[in-house]
Amino acid sequence: MLDLGRIRALLDERRPGHTLPQAFYTDADIFEFDLGAIHGRAWIMAGFEVELPRPGSTLAFKVGRSPVVLVRGRDGVLRGFHNSCRHRGAQVCADGARHSARLVCPYHQWAYDLDGRLLLAQRMHEGFDPAEHGLRPVHVETAAGCIYVCLADAPPDFAPFRDTIEPMLAPHDLLNAKVAHQCTLVERGNWKLAMENARECYHCAVRHPELAMTFPVRAKKHFESGGDPRIEAFNARMDALGLPVGPTEGDWWQAARFPLNEGTTSMTVDGKPSCARLMCETGGGDVGSMRWALEPHMFAHAVGDHLFSFSAMPTAPHETVVTAKWLVHKDAEEGRDYDIAHLAELWDRTNQQDLELVEMNQRGVFSAGYVPGPYSNDAEVLTQRFVNWYCRTARGYLDANA
Ligand code: FES
Ligand SMILES: [Fe+2]
Repeated sequence: MLDLGRIRALLDERRPGHTLPQAFYTDADIFEFDLGAIHGRAWIMAGFEVELPRPGSTLAFKVGRSPVVLVRGRDGVLRGFHNSCRHRGAQVCADGARHSARLVCPYHQWAYDLDGRLLLAQRMHEGFDPAEHGLRPVHVETAAGCIYVCLADAPPDFAPFRDTIEPMLAPHDLLNAKVAHQCTLVERGNWKLAMENARECYHCAVRHPELAMTFPVRAKKHFESGGDPRIEAFNARMDALGLPVGPTEGDWWQAARFPLNEGTTSMTVDGKPSCARLMCETGGGDVGSMRWALEPHMFAHAVGDHLFSFSAMPTAPHETVVTAKWLVHKDAEEGRDYDIAHLAELWDRTNQQDLELVEMNQRGVFSAGYVPGPYSNDAEVLTQRFVNWYCRTARGYLDANA
């Protein structure tokens, strides 16, 4: 049984503007608390509609440790289920994108229809009711070709996010895209360290030389112009093209279109597009980056020629799995229009560099001499936003379960 009083006391200890008390990065009980209070209640970006192109398409993944599967039904509707068999709980569908006419549990072959109903369970006793043993549903929403799931009974209101993100992302035509490449990294660090790192570019100029070539590493919060004439000119050009730039935010999300560095048009190692077939034809694909981010786990950048998404999921107190995906236009042909090595190099390098930073951070946070340190109010604004959101959400859970 989790000691919620202890977690509340630790939250009370937090100094505003400072990193969290040590236990939030090291403690197994707080890790368990996070899975339920944070990841179990938030909207999580699960993937892209193009990963489930036809009836019978499935996409299985984890929210924290909890397996979830998305299924495209025969009626074309996308549904989500807890990916846990109603017999003895085995994971029914293996992680990743697949196709099957039914969802058959590999353990004792219970078979579920694409809408989650239990169709077949052999050798069960008289009176066993299959209707009571369908897969348990989870909430699913889509917006601009991206799929979001929430495990909570009563999810946060999705509509304001959808209403904002759809017009911002629509020009990138994600329903006509494909996943060109994906990879996972296992980071030996608490998920909050991975996210704090992902929300700041204080470290970028020195630790991400490749990213710093195209990404404005000294950008203000949400890439606001702050009177910068280059950003103002970019915003005016986007306005003329009909592309909303924001910046805009809600409690658990943020979105902005911002200009890449002078002379670059894509987030690649050389600043040049990596795919000849554009996802966004508007402005010849020279449209900066449309970045959106959801607490507690992701960010994505949609540039003219491709899209990159990053998702960090907690798997153990000091282990986080990062999933990275690269999308291009569905008609782009590998070898002719794009080359995976060029497409993926920037974020492959950046993710590996970040893995080293997160692991180094975790090693130091274990120190007997660790005390919470101050964030920069200039360079770590979005990290503070994340940590404040975490504390607020954790408190909300404690209040609701007091
Ligand atoms: S656990 Fe799935 S069929 Fe037994
Ligand atoms: Fe980084």
